Amino acid sequence: MAEHLDIIQGGKQEKYAALLPQIQSVIEDEPDQIARMANIAAMLHETFRFWWTGFYRVFDKELVLGPFQGPLACTRIRRGRGVCGTAWQENQTQIVPDVEQFPGHIACSSASRSEIVVPVHNGKGDVVAVLDIDSAELGTFDETDKLWLERIVAIL
Ligand code: SME
Repeated sequence: MAEHLDIIQGGKQEKYAALLPQIQSVIEDEPDQIARMANIAAMLHETFRFWWTGFYRVFDKELVLGPFQGPLACTRIRRGRGVCGTAWQENQTQIVPDVEQFPGHIACSSASRSEIVVPVHNGKGDVVAVLDIDSAELGTFDETDKLWLERIVAIL
């Protein structure tokens, strides 16, 4: 396993393209999903310097906080609530350019201005977790982030 993250430069497309194989090599020998999620959160966070990067896992009718990087966060989110609960319920990536315009957004941190939430699936296609990334700036996330983050969570 690589012991450190190679320095990654360029635009977001270049960064994701360089990061994906590094994530693959770091997690390929690790069967434990928490450990895999922890390093994915760390590598994304370090590469892009997001405000908050982490996972919530599905337990019964709630999402429960999993491995993350960044400030303290809400620990439980109900299905259909907030951006995370909506991504889970609709089984679709949510791109939110301005969290204040998203009805029911859960403000774990007032510094969060935009976000993307990507569902994570098991082999049967059920949503078992979500990857939630928050930015302190408006309009950080677009279709490029969606494309690459969906590829990244697919290797989980
Ligand atoms: N913003 C999320 C809540 C989780 S925190 O941002 C870490 C939401 O509305 O689902």
